[in-house]
Amino acid sequence: MKYFILFGPPGAGKGTQATAMVEKYNLHHISTGDLLRKEIKAGTELGIKAKTLIEAGCLVPDEVVEGMIESEFKSVKGVEGFLLDGFPRTIAQAEALDQILAKTEEEVTAVVSIMIPDQMIIDRISHRAAIEGRADDANVDIIKNRIATYHSQTEPEIEYYKAAGKYNEVDGIGTIDEVRERIADVMDKF
Ligand code: AP5
Ligand code: MG
Repeated sequence: MKYFILFGPPGAGKGTQATAMVEKYNLHHISTGDLLRKEIKAGTELGIKAKTLIEAGCLVPDEVVEGMIESEFKSVKGVEGFLLDGFPRTIAQAEALDQILAKTEEEVTAVVSIMIPDQMIIDRISHRAAIEGRADDANVDIIKNRIATYHSQTEPEIEYYKAAGKYNEVDGIGTIDEVRERIADVMDKF
């Protein structure tokens, strides 16, 4: 199985691009953000706990998302691999992912990182707020906190995956089609 990670700051276009990529390469899309929003909507215990953290622009505990990922890997069949969107988001999650995959003698195939500047994050998410109605898009202070969380907790993964020889970066500035082509150029190699 292939295990691609679509990496990038909030609003980089991970969800947008994942939809096209899973179809092109017969992969299953796992967005931990989408899974958590489903739990919130269903009013589960996990959802109730996650809601406060998400709406403050903070991360939920590592164990919560690690469990979600492992159960998706086990339950989804009939695909050539997985496209992870929004996971891993801390070094601890990256290490946990390596350990989960090692159990079946597998490993991360490649990381594709979509890069955009901070101001573009705010512009794109503010625009999306009116379309999708996500609570964590609702005001600029939450968005800024998500950006700060990204820089402090998630960005260090870049060095982790560079050291593993798995890191590939694409420019996220441009039209959705332009960025899609850049991502496909990387994924075609695997
Ligand atoms: P999550 O849902 O993963 O949110 P995020 O990482 O903040 O990313 P977004 O979904 O906001 O952005 P995106 O990159 O998918 O961009 P999109 O394609 O929508 O996580 C939410 C929260 O859940 C986290 O803050 C955290 O609390 C929790 N969580 C999730 N995973 C976790 C984990 N592993 N550990 C702990 N906590 C976790 O695009 C954005 C907008 O821009 C759209 O409107 C789109 O149409 C537009 N757009 C896209 N591309 C372009 C383009 N090229 N040009 C113009 N507009 C574009
Ligand atoms: Mg998303």
